[in-house]
Amino acid sequence: QKLRLEVFKSVASTNELVKALASGGEAEGKVILSEEQTAGRGRKGRPFFSPAGTGIYMSILLRPRLSAADATLLTTSAAVAVALAIESVSGLSTQIKWVNDVFMNGKKVCGILTEASLSLENEWLDYAVLGIGINVALPAAGFPAGLSEIATSIYQAGNPEGDLRNRLTAEVLNRFMGYYEQLKERLFLPEYRQRMMSLGETVMVVKEHQEQAATAVDIDNDCRLKVRYPNGDEEYLSSGEVRIL
Ligand code: BTN
Repeated sequence: QKLRLEVFKSVASTNELVKALASGGEAEGKVILSEEQTAGRGRKGRPFFSPAGTGIYMSILLRPRLSAADATLLTTSAAVAVALAIESVSGLSTQIKWVNDVFMNGKKVCGILTEASLSLENEWLDYAVLGIGINVALPAAGFPAGLSEIATSIYQAGNPEGDLRNRLTAEVLNRFMGYYEQLKERLFLPEYRQRMMSLGETVMVVKEHQEQAATAVDIDNDCRLKVRYPNGDEEYLSSGEVRIL
């Protein structure tokens, strides 16, 4: 399907903009990109640092025939699309931190925020806004204090060529739409598993403000993380309920 791209110089948040368009009846396939965001948002109400000219900040409007439970597949397939796009454009390797953060050299290079609205008439989503933020050309000194320890850019991870944004955007969108058109086939799943960090390692599971150590064992077909607790109990974690430290 054809996407309709529109590029802005500065917006508060591309997700906010696309949500407003979605509520107004805009059809699937609208993509908003911005050179910068003045109020870029991350998950759990956190801000997403979005300085001018050095990153990709984009949101895609989707109207999938998916239940809320299956909406995770949008986010995880998008993470794989970003990971493969970065690899093909830069020649560098990427990892994925469950559930949908893309990492390079142990630091986060891309975050994804999916916001969905349920239909009042049936069990399907009315719309989903898939927001993707990638740090492309930012030098280490460009991050505010505290962020450079946990975040990186493709440039910092070893790609000398500064501005990859146009090629990368095209790669991400093409790959994502390929997965999206047959999302239930889960064509992205092997690539997701292959890049998953912490499998076989101890992770901290955060649930209702309690932290518990467990071993990350596997990723199931719904992209849930299977963990094993020290007492032998096993559990499948969904992204909405728990968080891995
Ligand atoms: C996260 O890592 O917590 C998610 C970050 C998502 C950032 C992107 S940038 C484009 C879109 N607009 C936003 O305000 N957020 C998402």
